[in-house]
Amino acid sequence: MPTSYEMDLLRVVFTPVPNSPPTKKRPTRRMEQSSNVERWGWRELAQLEYEEVIESGKNGSVYRAYSSTLNRTVAVKEVIVANSDDRRGGWQFEMAKREGVLLRDYIKHPHVVKCYDAFQTMSGVIMVLEFAEAGDLWNYVATTNSGIAESTARTITRQLMEALRYLHDDLGVVHRDIKMENVLMRRTLKDGIDVALADFGFATTWRPPDKSYEAGPSRRMMGTFPYVAPECIDPDQHLYPHGLPATDMWSVGCVVISMLTSRMPFGDGDDRDMKKNMFAGLYTPLGDDASADAKDFVARLMRLDPKRRLTAAEALQHPWLQKK
Ligand SMILES: Nc1ncnc2c1ncn2[C@@H]1O[C@H](COP(=O)(O)OP(=O)(O)OP(=O)(O)O)[C@@H](O)[C@H]1O
Ligand SMILES: [Mg+2]
Repeated sequence: MPTSYEMDLLRVVFTPVPNSPPTKKRPTRRMEQSSNVERWGWRELAQLEYEEVIESGKNGSVYRAYSSTLNRTVAVKEVIVANSDDRRGGWQFEMAKREGVLLRDYIKHPHVVKCYDAFQTMSGVIMVLEFAEAGDLWNYVATTNSGIAESTARTITRQLMEALRYLHDDLGVVHRDIKMENVLMRRTLKDGIDVALADFGFATTWRPPDKSYEAGPSRRMMGTFPYVAPECIDPDQHLYPHGLPATDMWSVGCVVISMLTSRMPFGDGDDRDMKKNMFAGLYTPLGDDASADAKDFVARLMRLDPKRRLTAAEALQHPWLQKK
C-alpha cells in the first residue's frame, strides 16, 4: 500500500494560489495560466474546459469540465489546503495527496469513482474524475418524502458493499467518511442503478505493519457526524482503534437507514441528542413496511461494539443482499 514515500511521486503542477473564495460562478481561472509545470503533460490539463461548479466548500471545489484529450465530460476536484504551513508537509496536505494517490494508482473497482489523473499543486491537489451524471445519493433521497424503494436501496447497498469488501480485504483501505453525499450516481435510477463511492479525503490504510497506520493522519478521528461510528467520537471508551473497517460498516448502516426512511439516522435533534441516541443504540427505526431481512441487516451493522458488526464480506452473504 502507498506509504508517504510513494505519495511524493504525485506529479507536481504549480498553479497560482486562488486568492478569492470559490463561488458558484463559472471560474475564470484557466489551466493555461499554469506555469513551471514539472514532469507532466500540461497541455493535457490545459485542454480542460471548465463548465460549472458542482459543489464548492471551504477546502476546495468540484467542477464539471470537458476534456478534449479524453473526449468526455469529467469532474475536476480541487482540494485546497487552507493553512499555508500545511502546504509544507502538514497532515492536511498529506491527506490530500493520499486521496490523489489512492484514487489514481491503487483503487480500481466498478463501484468506486474512476480517477483519470491527479496532480499536486502549490495549494493542494487536483483530481480529474469520471463525471457522475445523476449527482449524489443525498440529493436523490432528499427529493423523496419517505425514502426510496427497498429493492433500490438493496441494490445500492450491495454495490457499496462490493466496493467496501474490495477496499477492506484486498487493499486494506478504510474510507472513514461513508455518507450519502459521497455516493455518486452514474445514472438516474430509471436507467438502472450504478453507484460509485467517492471522496477518499479521509481514507487511510489500516493494516498494522503499514507505518502510516501508526502515526499522523491515520490516528486522527475522521468522519462526519452523525454518520461516524461511536468509537470515533468517544475515544475514552477505547472500543476499538480508529480507522478500522468496522467504522465504515457502521456508516453504511446509517446510509441504509437514511435511504429507507429519508431521515437522519439518530433523529432530528441537536448534536447532543443525536449522540445520546447513538450511544443508547436508538437509531431511526425502519417503517412497518420494511422487510424483516432489511431490519436484521441494519441491526447487525448498528452494533456499538465494532467487533460484533458484520464485515463487508459477511454483509454480502446476508439474506437481504442475497435477494435478487
Ligand atoms: N465525480 C463526480 N461527479 C459528479 N459529482 C461529483 C463528483 N465528485 C464529487 N461530486 C459532487 O461534489 C460533492 C463534493 O465532492 P467530494 O465529496 O469528493 O468532496 P468534499 O471534500 O467532501 O467536498 P465538500 O467539503 O464540499 O463536501 C459530492 O458530494 C458530489 O455532490
Ligand atoms: Mg464529500
